[in-house]
Amino acid sequence: MSSTKIIATFNQSGGAAKTTITQNLGYHLAEKHRVLLVDMDSQASLTAFMRLGEVKLKTEQTIYSAITEETPLYIWEKPIYGMHIVPTNIQLAGTEQKIFHDLTIDNRQRLKFPLSNVLD
Ligand SMILES: Nc1ncnc2c1ncn2[C@@H]1O[C@H](COP(=O)(O)OP(=O)(O)OP(=O)(O)O)[C@@H](O)[C@H]1O
Ligand SMILES: [Mg+2]
Repeated sequence: MSSTKIIATFNQSGGAAKTTITQNLGYHLAEKHRVLLVDMDSQASLTAFMRLGEVKLKTEQTIYSAITEETPLYIWEKPIYGMHIVPTNIQLAGTEQKIFHDLTIDNRQRLKFPLSNVLD
C-alpha cells in the first residue's frame, strides 16, 4: 500500500483561502517530505505562485491532459520552494463544463489514475 498522503483543499465558496492553505501547507510539509502540488483551478493562482504565471504552457504540460485524456501526469521539472507542481492554465475552465456532462467516467475518479503512477 502507498505511503503517500493525498490532501485536497476544496470549498464551494470563492475566496475561502483554498490556495493560501495549499501554498502554506505544502511549503511547511516540504521541510520533511516530498511535496507535489496539483493545480486544479483554471484561475491558476497556485501555478502563478510557483512562478509559472508568465510561462506559456503547452496543453500537455498541464493537468488538463491528465484528466481529459488520461495521459501520464506532467510534473514541471524544476522544484520551487522545495515543491514540485503539476501546473494548470485557463484552458481548464472549458474542461469543467465538458467533463461535467461526460458520464462515461466518474468525475471523482479522474485524478486517481494519473496520480497512481507517482505515488511512493
Ligand atoms: N488567514 C488569512 N488572513 C488574512 N487573509 C487571508 C488569509 N488567508 C487567505 N487570505 C486572503 O484571502 C484572499 C483569498 O484567499 P485565496 O486566494 O487563498 O482563496 P481561494 O479560496 O483560493 O479563492 P478562489 O476561490 O478565488 O480560488 C487572498 O487575498 C488571501 O491573501
Ligand atoms: Mg484559489
